[in-house]
Amino acid sequence: MSAADPRLGRRVMQRLDELATDTDEEGCITRLFLSPAHKAAMERVRGWMRDAGLAAHDDAVGNVVGRLEGASLDAPTFIVASHIDSVRNAGRYDGTFGVVSAIEVVEELRHRGTKLPFAIEVVAFGDEEGVRFPTTLSGSRAFAGTFSREALSVRDADGVSMGEALTAFGCDTEAITSLARDPARICGYLEAHIEQGPVLEAEHLALGIVSAIAGASRFNVTVTGEAGHAGTVPMALRRDALAGAAAMIAAIETEARGTEGLVATVGVIEAKPRAVNVIPAEVRFSIDLRAPSDVLRLGAVAALEKRLGAIAAERGLRLTLTPLHEAKATQCDEVLIAELKASLTRLGHKPRELPSGAGHDAMAVASLCPVVMLFLRCKGGISHNPAEAITVEDADAAIEVMLDFLLHYRPRGRQEIAA
Ligand code: HGY
Ligand code: MN
Ligand code: MN
Repeated sequence: MSAADPRLGRRVMQRLDELATDTDEEGCITRLFLSPAHKAAMERVRGWMRDAGLAAHDDAVGNVVGRLEGASLDAPTFIVASHIDSVRNAGRYDGTFGVVSAIEVVEELRHRGTKLPFAIEVVAFGDEEGVRFPTTLSGSRAFAGTFSREALSVRDADGVSMGEALTAFGCDTEAITSLARDPARICGYLEAHIEQGPVLEAEHLALGIVSAIAGASRFNVTVTGEAGHAGTVPMALRRDALAGAAAMIAAIETEARGTEGLVATVGVIEAKPRAVNVIPAEVRFSIDLRAPSDVLRLGAVAALEKRLGAIAAERGLRLTLTPLHEAKATQCDEVLIAELKASLTRLGHKPRELPSGAGHDAMAVASLCPVVMLFLRCKGGISHNPAEAITVEDADAAIEVMLDFLLHYRPRGRQEIAA
């Protein structure tokens, strides 16, 4: 297929535009885990999976799973997946590209009448972003058998627990543990995803291979001071929770700016009682810390715990730091990287390896089987933003590489399936 005729990419782009209409917020794309928009997107994706010849169903934790048997029923299974939940006011390609392109690949295999020596499971994971609940990767963790039932009791901003939300969504929470795949029967995992960074565009490359995925630590911080009259309390006597939080946030940014490879983000903040003439009594804010090395990240966590504690003590404030999420840095599988490199080379692409600062479902699946990720250039490296953009030609190139990879891949080691 020449790039001049991006046949495969064209339908994927149309479908991504359709999927973008499944949103919880008028005028932008917000599709949170277990929301009406998530339900609508699952229905749409399940329909496409079935049209492509996949036996598709919704599982007990809000994933959509489509399965295509291999040449023999006892063949191992290769997973091609990504996520369909989004952040608030999202772009239309983060996660969804990997799901819709996987369906297109299966469709093309069927069109060519190709039977592979392994089964394929295409999965649309439902909770990669972890925006609604203070936890994440629920869908891929259930696949990997690492879903913790404690996650069912975490609550969203409206006080709804994940267990209640799953039940209301029609899921049987008792069945979640049975979703765990048998590692002996899963031979590998491929996820195509937009890069969400500027490297491929800067190097004029359409595609890249992920070498490793940065580890992440997320926290909720509560700073407690004392409400008071904005006009009467002298500055030296105040226990201003918001001024204290501001000093802490500045310290977090200074730590990240001063540490090569470390990134830190405070994405959510709220102050109480939210009145212009009242000294803020309580502030809650989030911290998202990432680094390619766990030693670096955990060192930064320890340094910040100390620094924030000192700021609280200086200002007579109470500080609570609640860990929300922890994901170790994930190395992608060398054998699968070499196979993906061979595909890129066969199709005339430079096999550029690069790390991922963004987290992905592949991190959770890595505890189940070898994983590899294909990155797709995105305009300006912009993501988690409606301006997220890719080209139909790059979409087509990615699908061609995924096809080539699956056509050449042969399960190794894991193929001696226990009889
Ligand atoms: O936050 C992340 O890295 C991913 O987009 N969930
Ligand atoms: Mn993503
Ligand atoms: Mn994302």
